[in-house]
Amino acid sequence: MKPHVVCHTLTSIDGRIKQTIWGLSDHHKYFEEPASQIKADAWLVGRVTMQEFSSKKKHKFRSVSGKDLRKDFVALQTSNTYAVVIDPSGKCEWDGNMVSTEHVIEVLTEKVSNGYLDHLRANNVSYIFGGKKDLDLALVLEKLNKLFRINTVRIDGGGHVNGAFLKAGLIDEISLVLAPLADGTINSLVAFEAEEGYGKRKATRLKLKSVKKIFDDYLWIRYDVVKEEPQVKAVPGAGKTKKKK
Ligand SMILES: NC(=O)c1ccc[n+]([C@@H]2O[C@H](COP(=O)([O-])OP(=O)(O)OC[C@H]3O[C@@H](n4cnc5c(N)ncnc54)[C@H](OP(=O)(O)O)[C@@H]3O)[C@@H](O)[C@H]2O)c1
Repeated sequence: MKPHVVCHTLTSIDGRIKQTIWGLSDHHKYFEEPASQIKADAWLVGRVTMQEFSSKKKHKFRSVSGKDLRKDFVALQTSNTYAVVIDPSGKCEWDGNMVSTEHVIEVLTEKVSNGYLDHLRANNVSYIFGGKKDLDLALVLEKLNKLFRINTVRIDGGGHVNGAFLKAGLIDEISLVLAPLADGTINSLVAFEAEEGYGKRKATRLKLKSVKKIFDDYLWIRYDVVKEEPQVKAVPGAGKTKKKK
């Protein structure tokens, strides 16, 4: 079963997400307080965002072998809430298996070395494989549900991970905190970094669920994603009725 997916993001009015010039004194609260009101079994972030929370040390990996290492690993742990990271090459290193009160799950591709997997096992960090070289995000969600009983996932950014799930059509809801700021930095990250240029993809349509004024002049806007019916290709001649002679 696919878990329900809510993407939560804090942006300037021009959709930018990097807070470098925003000058907020307590910037975490604007993201975290609304996020904490979204009931979810897991939050999920991209590798870049998770590196803020993972180990800053460079660990030495052992040279190890063993087929079992290359299977999904559900570590023994006591938490039933999770911090999931999309980390295809295994760049996040760990000194433990928790971020705050959440148990860490690494989402990997088969590109990772046995030494890295051994490092994860030594720290009792869970991991799943989501593809050989590229990730199949639908498969990743299925595994999170099946192996960890995750029914609702909150995607917490950054722009690339949000964009990847948007492009794959896997987001059910968007929770947008709009900060009263116009950023204007050209080429700075926006909430959804899905692909360059105008391709065949259509923008995702949304249905407004609620709008709430928070922290005096912020807006918390919640949308449902409108699920488009797959378009059926017209077969030439189909549907035409034969003229009566
Ligand atoms: N305002 C907000 O709401 C908010 C929230 C979170 C973060 N942020 C900010 O956003 C910035 C980081 O955003 P970001 O877009 O650069 O990084 P990100 O989304 O956190 O991480 C991107 C990385 O995740 C991996 N990844 C994501 N999707 C993938 C896919 N479909 N397949 C394979 N790999 C995938 C790749 O890792 P590899 O490069 O290792 O292949 C990719 O480079 C930070 O400045 C952070 O502070 C803002």
